[in-house]
Amino acid sequence: MASPSRPGRLRRILLRTGALAVVLALAIAGLATWAWATADVSTVGSTEFRRPLTIPPLAPSTVEPDGTRVFALDMQTGTTEFDPGVATETWGFNGGYLGPTLRAARGERVRVLVRNQLPEASTVHWHGMHLPAAMDGGPHQMVEPGATWTPEWTVAQPASTLWYHPHPHGATEDHVRRGLAGLFLLDDEPAAALPLPDTYGVDDIPVIVQDLRLRGDQLDGTHGAFRDVGFLGDRTMVNGTIAPYQEVGDELVRLRLLNAATARTFTFAFHDSRAFALIGTDGGLLERPETLSRVQLSPGERAEIVVRVQPGERAVLRSERLDAGLDFWANRFAGGDDRFDVLELRAAATLRPSPALPAALVAPATPDGSASSVERTFDLTIAGINGAAMAMDRIDTTVTRGATETWTIRNVDGMPHNFHVHDVQFRVLDYAGAPPPPALRGPKDTIFLPPNTTATVTMRFDGPADPDTPYMYHCHLLWHEDRGMMGQFVVVEPGQQAGKPPRHSH
Ligand code: C2O
Ligand code: CU
Ligand code: CU
Repeated sequence: MASPSRPGRLRRILLRTGALAVVLALAIAGLATWAWATADVSTVGSTEFRRPLTIPPLAPSTVEPDGTRVFALDMQTGTTEFDPGVATETWGFNGGYLGPTLRAARGERVRVLVRNQLPEASTVHWHGMHLPAAMDGGPHQMVEPGATWTPEWTVAQPASTLWYHPHPHGATEDHVRRGLAGLFLLDDEPAAALPLPDTYGVDDIPVIVQDLRLRGDQLDGTHGAFRDVGFLGDRTMVNGTIAPYQEVGDELVRLRLLNAATARTFTFAFHDSRAFALIGTDGGLLERPETLSRVQLSPGERAEIVVRVQPGERAVLRSERLDAGLDFWANRFAGGDDRFDVLELRAAATLRPSPALPAALVAPATPDGSASSVERTFDLTIAGINGAAMAMDRIDTTVTRGATETWTIRNVDGMPHNFHVHDVQFRVLDYAGAPPPPALRGPKDTIFLPPNTTATVTMRFDGPADPDTPYMYHCHLLWHEDRGMMGQFVVVEPGQQAGKPPRHSH
């Protein structure tokens, strides 16, 4: 039989390849549509608040003859019953999940005995704390399994809501998501003199918000399709309690909100969009309360809010859709279309009267930028900061002790990031080309940056100097940090050169 003519064969081949390409394109479009359609979650309206909110205990401490306050934190494995009857494997400090609340006053010397009883090395970093670099608990202060690390420092900053969590390079997302995090509250006299709600667990409630996904008796940490921000869960919890309620007996309730999620940005608001007062940000109280009806927190950020409740009511704190100008695709896959019922406040039938909020809070402690002597720019992409992925033995930035600097941070990437600087609190001078909005007017150590957003911030590096031990700055979306969106800076004496940190952390 004669073979088919060449043009005929070519046509058939072309037809077949064409059909295959169409089928492939349809399949890819179908998968993308499916991924898109199943990517958003909502627990709004369907949440039954059945469990009383766990309030992390205040960590016990002893005081040495020289006045040093000593805490003990054991990093350990354990189990937690998130859903009744299911013991989920978790990690925690002094318990199965999260850790106790450490509390100290300005001027106090503190020491923490950190014992690692985990099967792997880790660290404990004091997020927001001004302290010597060797005490910072970053990736250069690894604690081996079975070892103890004993950092100590003197508290030298205003009253604030700080926190602690592991920081091992490459495994921070994993260690935090398993449950290693806790609050570190600082007190001072100016804050104590203000008539603010301040009875811990009564009218001053710690609210550590995280998302999670449960699979059997495991916390599922897998990243879904197109999730370039990292892990996103399908439920939220507060202080390790899913669907929690908190009974309150005072007219004014202070919530110390911490976003301890590894990747998710929350937009907190009440179910009825009621106004509340923002009184504090990452590094302490504002100059004056700001009236808001929502506050957005990216991973690592804190906000202290005071909300008024009515006798007998139930007020639900929610996380609403993200409004950060992301395109529809990025918004959906960054979790920006998700909504959550986070915490129900149950007000008693009769409430104790609360004093009115003061019109003025505290004088700002961050510089205003006028004495700034150094300007730097940090460009953020998933590949690294200023084009370089984190290297343990490379110092990226050398800062002179006592200097005030102005940093311009630009997200030049297609996905959201944020930026956190160790050791300091900064003031935002400019955000997205405008003066900072109310939620960014207080002391900050972490700032959210949607794509194509620029922030200019200023801070003072008071030291002490240590040319060999770096602090970190990084994206606090922890998977990004693990992948290398992190850089190192040292504080040196005037005229001193940066040293060389060890390539390996231990
Ligand atoms: Cu909250 Cu470098 O970390
Ligand atoms: Cu930090
Ligand atoms: Cu990032």
